[in-house]
Amino acid sequence: MASESKPGSLWGGRFEADSAAALLALSKSTHFDWRLAQYDIAGSKAHLKALFTAGYLTNDEAERLTKVLNQLLERVQAGSFAPKEQDEDVHSALERGIIEIAGAELGGKLRAGRSRNDQIATLIRSYLMDQADDIDTLVRELISVLTDRAEEHLGSAIPGRTHMQHAQPVLLSHHLLAHAWPLVRDLERLRDWRVRANLSPYGAGALAGSSLGLDPVLVANELGFAGTTQNSMDGTSARDVVAEFTFIMSLIGINLSRFAEEIIIWATTEFGYIKLDDAFSTGSSIMPQKKNPDVAELARGKSGRLIGNLTGLLATLKGLPLAYNRDLQEDKEPVFDSIDTLKVLLPAFSGMVQTMKFDLDRLERLAPAGFSLATDVAEWLVKQQVPFREAHEITGRLVAYCEENSLGLHEVPDAQMAKISKLLTPEVRDVLSVSGSIKSRSGVGGTSLPRVLEQISELRKSWVAK
Ligand code: ARG
Repeated sequence: MASESKPGSLWGGRFEADSAAALLALSKSTHFDWRLAQYDIAGSKAHLKALFTAGYLTNDEAERLTKVLNQLLERVQAGSFAPKEQDEDVHSALERGIIEIAGAELGGKLRAGRSRNDQIATLIRSYLMDQADDIDTLVRELISVLTDRAEEHLGSAIPGRTHMQHAQPVLLSHHLLAHAWPLVRDLERLRDWRVRANLSPYGAGALAGSSLGLDPVLVANELGFAGTTQNSMDGTSARDVVAEFTFIMSLIGINLSRFAEEIIIWATTEFGYIKLDDAFSTGSSIMPQKKNPDVAELARGKSGRLIGNLTGLLATLKGLPLAYNRDLQEDKEPVFDSIDTLKVLLPAFSGMVQTMKFDLDRLERLAPAGFSLATDVAEWLVKQQVPFREAHEITGRLVAYCEENSLGLHEVPDAQMAKISKLLTPEVRDVLSVSGSIKSRSGVGGTSLPRVLEQISELRKSWVAK
């Protein structure tokens, strides 16, 4: 004898035996997909309208079911309705809830013409679009902090590095803003992503579409989507939208980790560029002198976890045949974890950046170290019509002399300069200053003050938190 469907189970008709406990334990997803409950109820409300419009529910039934769904939503939000042991996933738990309130006859009508396959494919999109807004806000807050700090330190120079070696002096503001622009691109990526995410697969059913004349466009409109997916098989089974979102989360993490690494180095005694605020650093249980950059280290560490979530998800998706496969249930935990991770990380990171103190005198002193004005000498020679090849050579000899004699570039006597090359006249001293060097880098995107001010105003106009 085939059994009746049990409460919390969405099938039963063709099954003779109960599911094994081990299968139920494996299959269960309520412990992570319950966060989609409100989206599932919104989907049910939209679906109800489609059923009503197509003539499968009377006016009275539709009204009663709407009330039931509202009631269920309230209970879910109040925490008085929650998944039970026997519930497999968010959809089956909520169907149990609907039937508990509405009775099996009315409650049982809602399932017509939909499948958990099109439900979950839709809900994840709705959920991620809301999460994108939250992440957008947190990233904007960090961009605001960087912009504020850049504005606060407009006059200060810092050694600019390539290969971690002193290269050319730059404004500290320019350096800070160099960390804002990648985050701006992450916001743009989220915006681009939304164009693809904002399409509803609801109405695709299990894979082939609905035979009941239910209108997917109506459901999409009800749920606030910009449109519907074009192909029911693709709509129910593709998760590139989830993968792309997870990629953007990873990239935000990677962008934070790059700055985190600098902060960790800057806070060392050897560098001594910054002091982290007590509120955003930790001590050691054994070494009383310690002040550790844990926020930055966690940012660096968690970026690994974010990459792991992405690669894990991509591996799950690889080679999946059409259409829905249960493997797809594995899309949720990685992307949920990436979101949760950034939601704890971004506020702490912003706080750390907002409160760290720069040793401006030290930065100023170190800015010309390591012969970082050598390029300025070479370019000064170019301005005197010396071919760059020769200018590079002459400057190289000057640097070598300075190194041998432990002198700074500006400390070489005129006579000695003339010995190195008669082209090195005393006028070269004009460019042998950090401020002169910075000022001269005046092309668009350069480190000169007017260019940095342009960046600040552009960020304030479009990208800081409102
Ligand atoms: N819980 C599933 C998921 O997250 C949705 C249910 C589809 N299950 C099924 N047996 N068709 O993907």
